[in-house]
Amino acid sequence: MRLKDRVAIVVGAGQSPGEGMGNGRATALTFAREGAKVLCVDHNLQSAQETVDLIGANQGTAMAFKADVTREADIKSMVAETHARWGRIDILHNNVGVSISGGDAELLEITEEAFDRCVAINLKSCILAAKHVIPIMRAQQSGAIINISSMAVITTYPYVAYKATKAAMVAFTEQLAYQNAQYGIRANVILPGLMNTPMAVDTRARTFKKTRAEVEAERDSKVPLRQKMGTGWDVANAALFLASDEASFITGVTLPVDGGASVRRG
Ligand SMILES: NC(=O)c1ccc[n+]([C@@H]2O[C@H](COP(=O)([O-])OP(=O)(O)OC[C@H]3O[C@@H](n4cnc5c(N)ncnc54)[C@H](O)[C@@H]3O)[C@@H](O)[C@H]2O)c1
Repeated sequence: MRLKDRVAIVVGAGQSPGEGMGNGRATALTFAREGAKVLCVDHNLQSAQETVDLIGANQGTAMAFKADVTREADIKSMVAETHARWGRIDILHNNVGVSISGGDAELLEITEEAFDRCVAINLKSCILAAKHVIPIMRAQQSGAIINISSMAVITTYPYVAYKATKAAMVAFTEQLAYQNAQYGIRANVILPGLMNTPMAVDTRARTFKKTRAEVEAERDSKVPLRQKMGTGWDVANAALFLASDEASFITGVTLPVDGGASVRRG
């Protein structure tokens, strides 16, 4: 029970269609298993509710909340609902993010509309969620914010909006950490590498008309550690550590969870 009596918001706690467990759902389940009360936020309410049902089946406490986090009004309601319901906010976990499914593309193919969409979903949501949670955390003199970026920031990656927005999340997290350290608030960012999640594998299989097994094999072969992708649980366990008191002196850190992909050169 490493998060006993903590209150957490997991933004993007549902998951994309496909097989297996996404990063956001695994994180919501992990936080709840460790004793946190979790607001499971998603624009797909049904998917967030599935996460809540899984938590309930394990006797955890959670509630589904519908919000489109590209809209500040929805973010305000999400924060207000959590605070009104549980009296505090200890953890904000920003998991939403899109690339291919948001229309991201290589430079010469990117449309203005797709670029704006990716910026709003990946970057604006994370900044505005922090904006509305920070006053509560400052009043508490405590809090932990975890942003989910991507290894795409430091490895070669073809699509422009994802690369640029995920890199901006790292810079923003460092600023957030430094400017809120005096209030006892920590902010850290995780760079997941190649993970075997519905968002990454099933979306690619659909987009590039391949089988799931083909996409899995391609991605597995690129991972130095055991030639096997990570899972949503690997991201969830890293987030649990960063959210817990075990990380109480850790802020402003960029943590790769990538099976060694970031240390490969050449
Ligand atoms: N899977 C990987 O290989 C990998 C690698 C690097 C980084 N990541 C990052 O992990 C995160 C997602 O992981 P996941 O497996 O949970 O993905 P997912 O797509 O399964 O879950 C994300 C959830 O966010 C929700 N969402 C999207 N836009 C939203 C909006 N505007 N408002 C509210 N909810 C919205 C979706 O409905 C979905 O349920 C992303 O930030 C992604 O960039 C994943």
